[in-house]
Amino acid sequence: MPTKLNQEAVNDRPVIGILTQIVTDDVLKPFGRTFIPSSYVKFIESGGSRVMPIRLTLNTAEYKKIFEKINGLLFIGGAVDLETSDFARVAKIFYSLALKANDEGDFFPIWGTCMGMQLLTVLVAGENLLANTTAENIALPLNLTTEASSSRMFEGFPNKFMRALTKEPLTGNFHHYGLTVETFQENEKLRSFFSLLSTNVAENEVHFVSTIEGKRYPFYGVQWHPEVNRFQWNRKLNFPHSAHAVQLSSLLAEFFVNEGRRSLHQFDNPEEEASSLIYNNTPVYAGNFTGYEQLYFF
Ligand SMILES: *[C@@H]1O[C@H](CO)[C@@H](O)[C@H](O)[C@H]1NC(C)=O
Ligand SMILES: *[C@@H]1O[C@H](CO)[C@@H](O)[C@H](O)[C@H]1NC(C)=O
Ligand SMILES: *[C@@H]1O[C@H](CO)[C@@H](O)[C@H](O)[C@H]1NC(C)=O
Repeated sequence: MPTKLNQEAVNDRPVIGILTQIVTDDVLKPFGRTFIPSSYVKFIESGGSRVMPIRLTLNTAEYKKIFEKINGLLFIGGAVDLETSDFARVAKIFYSLALKANDEGDFFPIWGTCMGMQLLTVLVAGENLLANTTAENIALPLNLTTEASSSRMFEGFPNKFMRALTKEPLTGNFHHYGLTVETFQENEKLRSFFSLLSTNVAENEVHFVSTIEGKRYPFYGVQWHPEVNRFQWNRKLNFPHSAHAVQLSSLLAEFFVNEGRRSLHQFDNPEEEASSLIYNNTPVYAGNFTGYEQLYFF
């Protein structure tokens, strides 16, 4: 593994892995056991990366091999058990590999969106500390903390745009559970691992953690959904589509893919790479019976 070199080397053909999600919604069951909404795929692709879907049915040795080929991971949203589900089992394997790799100078980023962020907090804390922080179908401005101004995630954001982020409802929230600010601040493991970049207020008036980034590790979490701003259009859902909302989604996709560029993992050969990418799969139109436009089933 290149160690020092890694800091300067750039990989302009990154591949980000996305764990497939377990189907829990009855209307999706006829199509498959696991799925990935295309909005997450487009989000990663729009940042200049390709996507490898990662099934939940492999063994640890197989995941280890995949880890050595991909340049980052996205944990998507969903509604599954964060300790006992297959999704949680596979995420934990990759999380352990990523911790070890980063410790050894082998840069490897992870992004968690909504339940994916919640999962990161369970992995870091070693327990599920989530509580009712319902913010369902509402777009909110971010209440940025002082740490946000020195964060990596927002470093490249124009100053004017940072003001918009705190004033305009650019972040779509679709969750029932989350981490309260109080729990975050009282938990030594979480507090020492993550910087808290933003908070928001739930329907029950509890303040919840809305954006975090690892202090030592390139791990990022958002309780909200940056991918919907550009890639989901259901009229009943409050997806932000303003020019600033689109810009936010673009900036974050580019930020995360740039993190992936710092990983030098690669496939053994171009054929193996080609057969692993999501381009081999065809999404299904789902705009007439879900809040998504298209879904990949596995
Ligand atoms: C923003 O966060 C601060 C603490 O950092 C808190 O005192 C304040 O009430 C929050 N405001 C909103 C609107 O969430
Ligand atoms: C969470 O709190 C909201 C708002 O107070 C309430 O309507 C909802 O029933 C609660 N949900 C759960 C799962 O406890
Ligand atoms: C959604 O549209 C597809 C064709 O585009 C159609 O085959 C399917 O039956 C529709 N589903 C529902 C629930 O209306």
